Amino acid sequence: MNMSLVKLEDLVSLTKRRGFIYPGSSIYGGLSGTWDYGPLGVKLKDNLLSSWKDFFVDSRIDMYMVDAAILMNKKVWQASGHVDTFSDPLVECRNCHNRFRADKIDLKKCPTCGFLDSFTDKRDFNLMFSTKIGPVENIIDKENNSDDESLIYLRPETAQGIFTNYKNIIDSFYPDIPFGIAQHGKAFRNEISPRDFIFRSREFEQLEIEYFVNPDEWTEKFELWISLIKQWFSIIGLNSKNIHEHEIESSERAHYSKRTIDFEFDFPIGREELMGLAYRADFDLSNIERLSKKSMIYKPKDGKPGFVPHVIEPSFGVERLIMAVLSSAYKIDEINGESRIYLDLPILLAPVKVVVGPLVKNNQLLVDKSKEVFELIRKDIKDVVWDDNGNIGKRYRRADEIGTPYCVTIDFNTLEDGSVTLRERNTTKQKRLDFKTLVDHIKNK
Ligand code: GAP
Repeated sequence: MNMSLVKLEDLVSLTKRRGFIYPGSSIYGGLSGTWDYGPLGVKLKDNLLSSWKDFFVDSRIDMYMVDAAILMNKKVWQASGHVDTFSDPLVECRNCHNRFRADKIDLKKCPTCGFLDSFTDKRDFNLMFSTKIGPVENIIDKENNSDDESLIYLRPETAQGIFTNYKNIIDSFYPDIPFGIAQHGKAFRNEISPRDFIFRSREFEQLEIEYFVNPDEWTEKFELWISLIKQWFSIIGLNSKNIHEHEIESSERAHYSKRTIDFEFDFPIGREELMGLAYRADFDLSNIERLSKKSMIYKPKDGKPGFVPHVIEPSFGVERLIMAVLSSAYKIDEINGESRIYLDLPILLAPVKVVVGPLVKNNQLLVDKSKEVFELIRKDIKDVVWDDNGNIGKRYRRADEIGTPYCVTIDFNTLEDGSVTLRERNTTKQKRLDFKTLVDHIKNK
């Protein structure tokens, strides 16, 4: 029996207990909207990033990767429209003074104190975190009463670090069009109500690609990206039944977009946006051209007239991918009358691939042989873990709960004929194999 659709609190509890994700700054009572990744979370995230990079960048010849600074000249955010328009509608309850996103609540009744008709009028709240650059501390600005030259922002999207490097990539590599520039990194948004575990965080990571095309080709390339995104979702184990394409109406689209499809996912919190695919046309490059006074024209190699490329942007959020992957993988079944939780993670994402240990730990011969097998596997397979704690049943359950595909147990037969037990996570089936063939067997799965 398989029951799917984990409750959010069960996911939060498992990820904390087993060292995937902890609430940020919890030792001091926390900091809302921030999360820390523990050892297994780091591995899971690394594996997810590697898969994205393999599929969208390294296996292609038309992609270039950049790693731009998080701190950028504030003109970037003027050109992109973020200074003027990157805001959410904010209301405050006059009774309890809690603040909310006006578009996310029923404005008749305060969700915290229950007061009726207690809200202030909506006002636009800009989501960018601002900070100061240099040791100016406002002294001169205050004295001169001038604009604050030291004001800068933490980037609210990685995309702009790509656009600002478009010309550098053209100058260094002179790529054929279409081509893409990819970036992975942190983004920061001062969300009014961070909520639902890592789903809406104030500090999160994005995986973004700006794909530069000839304006005549955008519709064809847009369709191509839809299919690529779906292919990758299947590689990371997301069931297509849980993914929904939502064509965003023009009135709902972001200021820069002429077409957007949100890929929504059936999260434990309901159907919500997982990632977006947007046609940004020449919005960004033309604005950069205007503010920087530098030409963004691409000159085709065949001598045809130059043009400002149009852009298709697949934008993934790492936290939402992790939440989708974990909630898809979370399974409960029954083994020998006992309930079991396991993560049905694809092998490529599993933070631990193999757990190795002796049947019992109080026999030195078994322990020595197990260490030998452990070292042998480790030469070829990353993320092999040693575990000799508790009885074998409990070890298997611990391994299942973090999504370990294989457990290898060394017992007294191993000492005689070199065979070991290989136990498979989902089926719990066990088979005996010569330990020398283990690595090939696991790798060929
Ligand atoms: N460059 C385009 C852009 O940033 P977006 O729809 O605002 O578009 C893209 O963000 C993706 O980033 C979202 O689909 C989501 O996966 C992720 N994301 C955005 N805000 C987030 C937040 N506060 N917490 C976690 N992920 C977020």
